[in-house]
Amino acid sequence: MLERGTITLLGLLLALVSSADRWAVQAFRKSFEELSVHTLPDSGSLEDCSLRLQKLAHDEPPAAQLEEFPSYSREFAHLAAIGWKPKSGDDIEWRCSGSLIAENFILTAAHCTQDEGVEPTVVRMGDLDLYSAKDDRYAQQVEIAEIIRHPEFNFSSAYHDIALLRLKKSVTVTDFVTPACLYTNDSLTFDKLQAAGWDFYAEVSPPILTTPLNPINQDRCKFWYRDNKEAFRKGINRMLMCAGDEQLKSCPSDTGGPLQVKLLSSSRYTPFVVGVSALGVPCGATTPGVYAKVPHYILWIEAVTKLVYHPPECVIRHISRRELDTSLVAPELKTTALETHLTGKKGTVEANPLRAKLHVFKEFKCAVGKDGENVEWLCGCTIVAQDFALTSARCVKDVDVNVVNYRNDWKKIAEVIFHPEYDRKTLYNDLALIRLQTDNRNRYDWKAVSCIGAPGEEDQSEYLTFGIGPYNLNDDGRTDGNADGTERYVTATLQRVANANCTEAYKGYGILKSGLNATQFCFGSGGDHLVPGACEPWNGNEVLGEIRPPNDPNPFPEDLVGVSSYAPDCGFGRRPLVASRAIAFRDWMDTIIYKATKVQTVPQVLMEKELALDYICEASDREAGVCVHIDHCSHRALAKDVVKVCTNETAPIVCCPVNSFIATAHLPLLTECETNYQRFRKKYADFVGDRGTALPLEDGAHPHSVMIGWKVNKTATAWHCTGTLINLSTVLTTAGCANSVRRRSPEVVSVGETNVARIYDGAAQIIRVKETIRYPSYNAKTHDNDIAVLKLESDVLVNENAIPACLWRDLNRTPYYGQEVHFDGQSLTARDKNVVHNRDCQLFTSHTELTNDQLCWQEFRLRPDGADAPNCGRKGNPFITLQRTNNIYLPYLVGLYSYDRQCAGGEPIVATRISSYINWISLYM
Ligand SMILES: *[C@@H]1O[C@H](CO)[C@@H](O)[C@H](O)[C@H]1NC(C)=O
Ligand SMILES: *[C@@H]1O[C@H](CO)[C@@H](O)[C@H](O)[C@H]1NC(C)=O
Ligand SMILES: *[C@@H]1O[C@H](CO)[C@@H](O)[C@H](O)[C@H]1NC(C)=O
Ligand SMILES: *[C@@H]1O[C@H](CO)[C@@H](O)[C@H](O)[C@H]1NC(C)=O
Ligand SMILES: *[C@@H]1O[C@H](CO)[C@@H](O)[C@H](O)[C@H]1NC(C)=O
Ligand SMILES: *[C@@H]1O[C@H](CO)[C@@H](O)[C@H](O)[C@H]1NC(C)=O
Ligand SMILES: *[C@@H]1O[C@H](CO)[C@@H](O)[C@H](O)[C@H]1NC(C)=O
Repeated sequence: MLERGTITLLGLLLALVSSADRWAVQAFRKSFEELSVHTLPDSGSLEDCSLRLQKLAHDEPPAAQLEEFPSYSREFAHLAAIGWKPKSGDDIEWRCSGSLIAENFILTAAHCTQDEGVEPTVVRMGDLDLYSAKDDRYAQQVEIAEIIRHPEFNFSSAYHDIALLRLKKSVTVTDFVTPACLYTNDSLTFDKLQAAGWDFYAEVSPPILTTPLNPINQDRCKFWYRDNKEAFRKGINRMLMCAGDEQLKSCPSDTGGPLQVKLLSSSRYTPFVVGVSALGVPCGATTPGVYAKVPHYILWIEAVTKLVYHPPECVIRHISRRELDTSLVAPELKTTALETHLTGKKGTVEANPLRAKLHVFKEFKCAVGKDGENVEWLCGCTIVAQDFALTSARCVKDVDVNVVNYRNDWKKIAEVIFHPEYDRKTLYNDLALIRLQTDNRNRYDWKAVSCIGAPGEEDQSEYLTFGIGPYNLNDDGRTDGNADGTERYVTATLQRVANANCTEAYKGYGILKSGLNATQFCFGSGGDHLVPGACEPWNGNEVLGEIRPPNDPNPFPEDLVGVSSYAPDCGFGRRPLVASRAIAFRDWMDTIIYKATKVQTVPQVLMEKELALDYICEASDREAGVCVHIDHCSHRALAKDVVKVCTNETAPIVCCPVNSFIATAHLPLLTECETNYQRFRKKYADFVGDRGTALPLEDGAHPHSVMIGWKVNKTATAWHCTGTLINLSTVLTTAGCANSVRRRSPEVVSVGETNVARIYDGAAQIIRVKETIRYPSYNAKTHDNDIAVLKLESDVLVNENAIPACLWRDLNRTPYYGQEVHFDGQSLTARDKNVVHNRDCQLFTSHTELTNDQLCWQEFRLRPDGADAPNCGRKGNPFITLQRTNNIYLPYLVGLYSYDRQCAGGEPIVATRISSYINWISLYM
């Protein structure tokens, strides 16, 4: 999560720079070097998700809107003192506490309604220190109109010790005088309760006292009260409850006062009265307090007050007056109730609503459902690849889910794939991948995809997850009585819970019988409980490290950290939320999504008779192979069933199927480029200009680029396409380029000049082509094997404008970022491009049948929300990546522009992959 300070600072920077373009450019600069060295594994993996989505350049999100909230404490706005007016006309004597539960009703103990035969006459609220006038500015004092004791109450016993006082007039609801709500559920799930009231037995006039207490179960409690035959002749029954502090050191004597909990909804805490402190109970320092249990009396209270206490209805009545979510209030602005009363301090905080512990999310994200007459949405999910959603296995186990909804885009489910080790009785390996039907292609629908992020163990303690809840319990709580109870998607912000603590919380639960393990993590609310009904958990939902504000220009969803597995009360309350750690399951997802077998995970077997380098061998599947270094073999070709190892020296020499390796014999030729010509090459700094638009190439920026020409007549030459110098006498281009002029091979190349108009000005070397060699099985229709070598009649003279490029030889990884040297028929320019993974290219374009010997590239865009830029170019245009060795940046040729289909609309183009043709090219170097 962002710190408040960062947000402000960033906001300021943005305001100064103002244009999103500038921002993008800066982000790009920062990552340029990083981008240049990034590569895509050819087998496909979720690992490079952010590269493929071009998310790498994304900076910190812009600030969320800051909103103002008043910050003072309202914890005791419902506390009332009950007073007796002495006949003599002296000061009122305060002897009992009570709770304001309606504008004209006080709830108290029935024993408080008579003292030595005299009934109380007045109540006072909004005054913490009753005998001091200092804090009286918000006090309200109202006379009692009627005392209504519970009909079954009898002064000689402790049962039904509960009464309502009807006031002569309604109080004015203010920030300091506000009715409380009542807890209505008989089963309590709180570890901590709070007793509040005045201790009228204390010698000094008391301010309000509060004591945190633990509920004590009935059986244990009976022990303390077994001798009190008179008051407890029926024992401690279910209408009573006990609570005490852990060591039973203090006994609250807050007679008539509430035993309460604060429950969260709409970013506010509302006090809920759970018990009424019983009077007439001998309370010693080692005795728990006994309370009339309020849930048991709801019907009676509702009948008398004519109000509804159903929690969702009660909390919205005065929500705007309640204490604010602690995460929204800066610590220095948190004031105690007494301080506010004394000083009238009413600070204002600039709170970021996105930091609220529970709030309505900007939009509905991802849901898995069952289509029918009415769709039933059952689980949350995350789109982890274009055609895959991830969810909890538990959630989809026994239902026939058939539709996924992502931001209101419906996708049919093709298949649900459960984690093979998922066991329905536990939460371990609780993941399922959902393969979506992709017949309805949505080109470039990258924006739906969440990349998997690693949860930062040290620096992150807060996580976000989702649930469903009614709008009016999750809005900002600024208006009372909001009746909009429609269900919304809500986010919950929770704190990391240590594994040991989580294991402890689930002790005795079969679902975590071996405790939490490394594939899981837990988080909770740090003691906060929710108003019942505020949030329904949704399993299978994503767990995120951050949430970006609705106005964030970044179109991508946030990174995925985990998948919610078990979330009682949305992670609030007593038991923490258990989630599966997404990154722990990435390999499993890769095998399903990319059908990728990592060569590292394939078993290795040593050949019966060891074979040396370059020996012929029999690869798996009885294919013919050659013994080569494992890095010179395509892992895709190797990763089938077993890797046959020829010899096992420092690194394995493996039996690699023919056509899938780089012959060791050629290596000296290939590496020559890396060691020669260094003094002619430019330093890296020379390459970095002002990017964003295509700039004319400076002389020498891409000194390996050549123009390929055909003679028109004696004096004129037509320059149709480009090639790349890879050796002093060799140029590489596509067969398509070499075939530009019907039935004629190219006749000349021009080296060292970037503009056709200047070719004859002197700087260019014009060299005749001796021979054109097209790849033997080049197919002009399908564009398969679209590559050609041009042998020159004489060597190029090396200078800073004419230097060969190196060949990209890695069969397993492809550089992500590079430049296309673009030829428009007149001049050469450089354009920033990035490689599109073959699988993605096939999914999103009209190029449905790519081979491993091809690759795709597209215009490099920082944010794909920008308009699709045209990608069109000419046959033979090279894709060059710069790789750093000592301060020199060597240009590597990665691909050659082969063909395009809808390049004008922004579709990636298809190129010939150089690394597939290394052996063949070497033959002609
Ligand atoms: C109250 O309890 C006492 C003692 O058990 C009993 O004598 C008396 O009749 C009861 N009064 C009422 C009104 O039930
Ligand atoms: C009362 O709480 C229990 C335990 O949390 C829950 O199972 C039950 O559904 C609740 N009852 C009502 C009426 O909400
Ligand atoms: C784990 O529990 C211990 C003991 O109850 C507590 O001190 C600690 O703060 C807890 N840690 C977390 C991260 O919840
Ligand atoms: C976690 O526990 C499950 C079930 O016992 C097991 O299948 C899985 O391998 C464990 N993972 C780790 C990393 O311990
Ligand atoms: C090759 O050597 C490595 C490292 O010594 C070893 O881990 C591996 O098992 C060996 N492979 C075979 C097939 O013997
Ligand atoms: C050669 O061709 C060019 C371009 O077509 C033309 O302008 C020029 O006049 C021609 N020269 C001769 C000598 O035919
Ligand atoms: C270029 O390739 C040719 C043919 O294989 C070779 O004889 C020559 O040495 C190479 N030239 C340079 C400068 O590498």
